[in-house]
Amino acid sequence: MGTVIGVIFQQGVPVFADLKPATGNLDPDDVAKKITPKTKAIIAVHLGGNPADMAALRALADKHKLVLIEDCCQAWGALDRGKPIGTAGHIACFSLQQSKHITTGDGGVVASSDPKFGPLLQRFGDKGTDRGGATGGLFHEFATNYRISELQSAFGAAQLTRLEKIASHRAKAGNLLTSRLTGLPGLTLHEVNSIDRCVYWFYLLRMKPEAFRCERAEFVKALAAEGIPAAAGYIPVPLYGNPVFQKHAFFADRWPVKELGLTEMDYTKVTLPETEAILRTCVRIQLNEAMTEEYVEALAAGVTKVARHYAVG
Ligand SMILES: Cc1ncc(COP(=O)(O)O)c(C=O)c1O
Repeated sequence: MGTVIGVIFQQGVPVFADLKPATGNLDPDDVAKKITPKTKAIIAVHLGGNPADMAALRALADKHKLVLIEDCCQAWGALDRGKPIGTAGHIACFSLQQSKHITTGDGGVVASSDPKFGPLLQRFGDKGTDRGGATGGLFHEFATNYRISELQSAFGAAQLTRLEKIASHRAKAGNLLTSRLTGLPGLTLHEVNSIDRCVYWFYLLRMKPEAFRCERAEFVKALAAEGIPAAAGYIPVPLYGNPVFQKHAFFADRWPVKELGLTEMDYTKVTLPETEAILRTCVRIQLNEAMTEEYVEALAAGVTKVARHYAVG
């Protein structure tokens, strides 16, 4: 939800594109199909800390002259083809909310190396003005106070010094889990491009329903019994399936852009087959930087035991 709130508040219309089955990241082919003359930007979430296909998305954005925004909230320290995450697009957003790789309790960072956006982002942190004097005290844009406090920023700066250790440890842990689970029937593993670094905010497994004698809930219960921090599913429904989208009730139960005829979007008619299949079949395993190699080996052994126990045939 955090990815699209800002879009809706700016009176933009989020158009959802489908996802790749083994990463949960945007499928550039489906994004291409959804682009219209009204499209302004593409937003790619690096789900679970796994870099989306930025080369393909950047090519699409350039071809259609669109702004490419990276939602790096779950991807602190990830590397996209060897480069720091957030540098392939025009704008990158990072969350410092308490559950993320590094945190300031709450808050976040928006970054851009594009001179068109950098100063503008700064003004959006201060009601549309620039205390450095660049706007002469005038307000050219209507903006709010989207800013983090100085005190939190000081914490954030200190946290950054820990980031590489956290990111590399998580990357190692997730990759080790993949190497140990490879070949286990019935499971689709968290697919990472070998030239990227995924920082596993979580590890995304998918169950092939026909391969197991049990439902996902029972499978996850058995994982828990093995001491594995796993959860069945992710968000309960795709964003467009939420009541607020189904009712188009964004502003006091109304949606001005629709009432004014500026969009024909009807979220009750949106379906994304792969996204829905991912949500039905995924299992998330929590990884973190405190987990030792032995711990991850034990996780892998536990998953293997449960998967073998419930395997059909
Ligand atoms: C992918 C993604 N985007 C956006 C957000 C929103 O971040 P914040 O809570 O800092 O606004 C989150 C945080 O939960 C997230 O995981």
